[in-house]
Amino acid sequence: MSQKITTLFKIKYPIIQGGMVWVSGAKLAAASANAGILGLIGAGSMEPELLKKHILKAQTLTEKPFGVNLPLLYGKREEQIEIALNAGVKIFFTSAGDPKKFTKFLKDHGCVVVHVTSNPMLAKKCEDAGVDAIVAEGFEAGGHNGSEELTTMTLIPQIKKSISIPIIAAGGIGSGYSMAAAFTLGADGVQIGSRFAATQESSAHINFKQSIVQASHDSTMLSMKDLIPVRLLRNQFFQEVQNIENSPLDLEEKKRRLISLLGKGRAKRGMLEGDLLNGELEIGQVAGLIDDIPAMDECVARLIREFHHASKNLPLHFS
Ligand SMILES: Cc1cc2nc3c(=O)[nH]c(=O)nc-3n(C[C@H](O)[C@H](O)[C@H](O)COP(=O)(O)O)c2cc1C
Repeated sequence: MSQKITTLFKIKYPIIQGGMVWVSGAKLAAASANAGILGLIGAGSMEPELLKKHILKAQTLTEKPFGVNLPLLYGKREEQIEIALNAGVKIFFTSAGDPKKFTKFLKDHGCVVVHVTSNPMLAKKCEDAGVDAIVAEGFEAGGHNGSEELTTMTLIPQIKKSISIPIIAAGGIGSGYSMAAAFTLGADGVQIGSRFAATQESSAHINFKQSIVQASHDSTMLSMKDLIPVRLLRNQFFQEVQNIENSPLDLEEKKRRLISLLGKGRAKRGMLEGDLLNGELEIGQVAGLIDDIPAMDECVARLIREFHHASKNLPLHFS
């Protein structure tokens, strides 16, 4: 198996705990680092001062490296970057925007930079922008998604053909068995979100964690396709979004109503504060396979056990 990702981030296992707005703070990133994988603080829409608190807290909880995820669709990016650099962060995962925007600046400051992509063309653009690796995320994933709706299974081999930098597969990976599948397809590492959202150290509200455990195969759906696609748990807020999207209104009016429905703080209300009716609950299809809320070290140990079991027992014999 390729050592590119373990070498790049100086970690034991080629697993990244994906940045998750309101879910991956200092505790989760540090617990991930201590479990031998790369933890990411999800800067999301955090005020820069709050991000600083999370970085400083994580540094008291682990001596291992961790990074910061910056979705480029929110404001205050420059301030967040300045604070993270001053606090000594050297690993940045950017997403939801142009990979050219901050890559050169961060590389000039000695950082490792990774960008999240959902299609082969964007992956090539990332390579040209000079990133060290890409996350290739299929639309099974929780959180914001590509509009092309490519599955991880088809995305990884297509991207593998178009670039030569390391590929981190994401979307639908919740066990060591799906990890093994991603490596078989050509990935060098995996990024996991939903499985880690339902752990002891995630900052998701307990209501949200329990709703992940209760989710089944049809509990999530890609939503807000007219604005910015995001995979959500199907609750009342989701239904209100659907009502607008399925209405006969023209596209501009739909967008206006969606923006007004979203308002401010819907994601915080759902995922951090536990409002299961009116909050936005971002989670992936793999939620249907999650049935407990373990501690991170236990969760990672299980992934590794399953991975070794999968790699030893592949039924490769046909008659
Ligand atoms: C609750 C939640 C919030 C997320 N927030 C972000 C985010 O702020 N930035 C980002 O780049 N990706 C975000 N993601 C995507 C994850 O980083 C990761 O790529 C994705 O969850 C992988 O797919 P999976 O959910 O099937 O494991 C989020 C995912 C979840 C489940």
